[in-house]
Amino acid sequence: MPQGALLFQPSHFPREAWTDHLRRFMPELDIRTSFTEAESKDIVYCIAWRPEPGFFARLPSLKVVFSMGAGVDGIVADPTYPRHVPLSRVVDDTLSQAMTEYVVFNVLYWHRRVRDLEALQNLKKWRVIAAPRAEYVRVGLMGMGVLGQAAARALKALNYRLAGWSHSPKMLDGVESFVGADGLKPFLAKTDILVCLLPLTPATRGILNAQTFAALPQGAAVINCARGGHLIEKDLLAALDGGHLRGATLDVFQTEPLPESSPLWTHPKVFLTPHIAAITDPESFMRNVANAIRRMDQGSPPDNLVDFARLY
Ligand SMILES: NC(=O)c1ccc[n+]([C@@H]2O[C@H](COP(=O)([O-])OP(=O)(O)OC[C@H]3O[C@@H](n4cnc5c(N)ncnc54)[C@H](OP(=O)(O)O)[C@@H]3O)[C@@H](O)[C@H]2O)c1
Repeated sequence: MPQGALLFQPSHFPREAWTDHLRRFMPELDIRTSFTEAESKDIVYCIAWRPEPGFFARLPSLKVVFSMGAGVDGIVADPTYPRHVPLSRVVDDTLSQAMTEYVVFNVLYWHRRVRDLEALQNLKKWRVIAAPRAEYVRVGLMGMGVLGQAAARALKALNYRLAGWSHSPKMLDGVESFVGADGLKPFLAKTDILVCLLPLTPATRGILNAQTFAALPQGAAVINCARGGHLIEKDLLAALDGGHLRGATLDVFQTEPLPESSPLWTHPKVFLTPHIAAITDPESFMRNVANAIRRMDQGSPPDNLVDFARLY
């Protein structure tokens, strides 16, 4: 039996649609979407997505928090998060599949010059644009975790020349591994299409900046499907307008929704999407939450735990 109630915190999501899945997987669980101070002690499990700072301090009996996303920056950024409470993040094949689709599509978008071809179509101009063979296109993945490695496997099947940059070395067939601060410049120098799949932490905030862009070869493209906080938007605009970068795909932004006034909306070299690269699947997520609660009841810790020393 569960050891107490579960609170579904995210307020901007259709609560019933999400919690109905959990009710189906765990009918015996007491699921709540709000609480009074008197009820706060009953809540031992919490599903969270970007709560207000200080939110967790109101839940004194918490035993676990389930992040509704793979990235936990919106939770660990709160200095009042009680670090003795394990934080479990989304690691799920449906999410990896969705991100892989997004990365592959966008690598192909810049490699096969889809933007230029569309511009020619609009002008009714018949001009052949030949793309290099994939094996000559160097794709660099910043972040070689669950999502970066899934994308690398799919890109490898398409024959791209791959490199990955991470905190610790990786041994992935067909992927050259670059590590840490010393490895960053050599990694960037060999990258025609840069894909950011890093977690947002103090060490990675603003990493897509003027220096990073300058270290990429002339004509490189950038794909940011991690977090808006990774990108210095004005530096990207300068690198695009100055001609050093060929184009950028952006799924995430400093401010979301992206304000109408942003020059990114209409920039001729930017393809943008509204944070949809990989959306957590409610059914799959709730199945994993139910399984984790059952495992906890039998004395096992939840899996996919965030390391609070690294903040990812
Ligand atoms: N746009 C969307 O729809 C969407 C959806 C889901 C996720 N995301 C984003 O994708 C991110 C990655 O998810 P994931 O599940 O792949 O995360 P993960 O498994 O934790 O992988 C993170 C990777 O980044 C590397 N890394 C972290 N800090 C680093 C640093 N300072 N220098 C170099 N490498 C560093 C890690 O290196 P080590 O392996 O050596 O630790 C690891 O390879 C999430 O945090 C989230 O922000 C976006």
